[in-house]
Amino acid sequence: MTGTLQIPDPTWFVGCGNMGGAILDGWRTGGLDLSPLTIIRPSGIPVEGARVVTSFAAAGPPPSLVVLAFKPQKLDEIAPGLRQYLSARTVVVSLLAGVETASLRQRLPGAAAIVRASINLPVAVRRGVTGLYSPDADGSTREQLNNLFSALGFAMWMADEQKLAALGSVAGAGPAYVARFIAALAKAGVKRGLTEQIAATLALETVLGTAWMAATNKESMESVARRVASPNGTTEVGLKVLDHDHVLDELVAVTIDAAAQRGAELAEEAKAGVDG
Ligand SMILES: NC(=O)c1ccc[n+]([C@@H]2O[C@H](COP(=O)([O-])OP(=O)(O)OC[C@H]3O[C@@H](n4cnc5c(N)ncnc54)[C@H](OP(=O)(O)O)[C@@H]3O)[C@@H](O)[C@H]2O)c1
Repeated sequence: MTGTLQIPDPTWFVGCGNMGGAILDGWRTGGLDLSPLTIIRPSGIPVEGARVVTSFAAAGPPPSLVVLAFKPQKLDEIAPGLRQYLSARTVVVSLLAGVETASLRQRLPGAAAIVRASINLPVAVRRGVTGLYSPDADGSTREQLNNLFSALGFAMWMADEQKLAALGSVAGAGPAYVARFIAALAKAGVKRGLTEQIAATLALETVLGTAWMAATNKESMESVARRVASPNGTTEVGLKVLDHDHVLDELVAVTIDAAAQRGAELAEEAKAGVDG
């Protein structure tokens, strides 16, 4: 797929920090040619394989595709300068967490289509998850974006913005939660007498190996747990602690609820920016 896959020419990235950089890392290692890209960022920090400028005026011909990769709080500062470069042939893809398509459309009325992409950081190593949603993208745009984001891992179109938010609350934030779990596993190893370095390696490799095995075998987590825990054995006793009163399920659920609440607040703030 990536052999024939091309980034639309010209494509603008407005901002290129953690997430923009992760996307470009994934495309670069996937063999995509980054030369159709112009990155607009105030610092002018160079990006391997792409052109970097510090203003829209210096960005060259109007873009076919624009990726918004700055912080949501910057939208009202950046949109007024960007909108004059958008035409009925420009597709806008927004990475801005929580900012709904209606808020984006109000600020960027001239674009052909507004698309939201909820991505996670492992796109950098092409094992990411991307959820896409648009109220107005046509079939060929959907196919093109599906191909570009599938080059970075797993990608799917979502039916509505609630589902996109649900995907983001699991996959977008997920790497942070998984990182905490791996760190907790490592800390427990240190408590049992391992060095920090060995414990960190064992915890990481265990999570990687478990996920890899389940994905390869298309095996459910219930089945993985059952295969590890023999009746009346050590793992079964450990699982009873985790499963007691669904303590782990509850902890993860309240964690995700708290993050989703913040997502809703950000969406409201973005709406207020337009209306108020
Ligand atoms: N981090 C995550 O895991 C994650 C997950 C899902 C979604 N997102 C979304 O991804 C977006 C980017 O987040 P991030 O973590 O990549 O942020 P970041 O690392 O802070 O990067 C922000 C970028 O915005 C650029 N920028 C600031 N002011 C600008 C301006 N006036 N014009 C053009 N560019 C400007 C910065 O340019 P300089 O580099 O020149 O300073 C920088 O490249 C956010 O909207 C966030 O909601 C992030």
